Amino acid sequence: MSDAYSGRGNKDRSVTKETQSSMVPGPQHGEAHPSPGGPFLIGESMTGGYGNGPDILHDCTIAVDEGEIAVIVGPNGAGKSTGMKALFGMLNVRAGTVRLDGEDITDLTPQDRVKKGMGFVPQTHNIFTSMTVEENLEMGAFIRTDDIRTTMEQVYDLFPILKEKRYQAAGELSGGQRQQVAVGRALMTKPKVLMLDEPTAGVSPIVMDELFDRIIEVARTGLPVLMVEQNARQALEIADKGYVLVQGANAHTGTGKELLADPEVRQSFLGG
Ligand SMILES: Nc1ncnc2c1ncn2[C@@H]1O[C@H](COP(=O)(O)OP(=O)(O)O)[C@@H](O)[C@H]1O
Ligand SMILES: [Mg+2]
Repeated sequence: MSDAYSGRGNKDRSVTKETQSSMVPGPQHGEAHPSPGGPFLIGESMTGGYGNGPDILHDCTIAVDEGEIAVIVGPNGAGKSTGMKALFGMLNVRAGTVRLDGEDITDLTPQDRVKKGMGFVPQTHNIFTSMTVEENLEMGAFIRTDDIRTTMEQVYDLFPILKEKRYQAAGELSGGQRQQVAVGRALMTKPKVLMLDEPTAGVSPIVMDELFDRIIEVARTGLPVLMVEQNARQALEIADKGYVLVQGANAHTGTGKELLADPEVRQSFLGG
């Protein structure tokens, strides 16, 4: 993890401590034995689109490794959300492979991917607005049969405002607070990788900074975070790895620093 993270985020890392223990790589009950090597989650050379429609992704590769924050940026309509959906099993991937911890999961349903440890916060409709904050978190834990209270307390430690508002309808919360509910809901499954599609959409710069700090806090414990961001510069500043997607294909890939320093990336995507 890079030094860019030091000093960011608060000091309470209880969520992530627990997450860390579930992060230990290796097979769990009856899973196929993962082959060693390769990134923790990778969509490799993915080509495909929605239903029988035209291909949106063209030979697109996106990956995130343990301990990393990987960020996908690019213009509107570039296929960033489509790439996330492809990784999560919501797309008709005609060619290419998705692997989680070495295991080929290309043919698994989204539900089965959640069971394998993928936590996904989609760009839209990512909370149940008529349910309370706490009910949203409970819904997040739907696949679990064990006691979820510890995880819920950890989510509340990470996002204290949610504890204050736990009996309020999630739809009554501010944009930033709703995003916290959405991220909290995903954490309730105790995922091994967290995927966030525009977690800071529509929030003020201050709230964006706070959300980024919380995301860094989650990531620095070893939980890999893959996120799409429209705030490209700020996101690349906290990214270990960045992808610029254009028209469904990889246009630029590098460390966050490299992309921030790349004249073409700056000119075309970062406003100079
Ligand atoms: N559900 C869908 N059905 C058909 N086409 C879609 C759907 N969602 C997105 N698209 C198309 O896929 C392309 C990429 O969209 P998207 O992945 O949402 O871009 P981004 O997230 O980078 O803004 C766009 O041309 C968009 O119109
Ligand atoms: Mg999108």
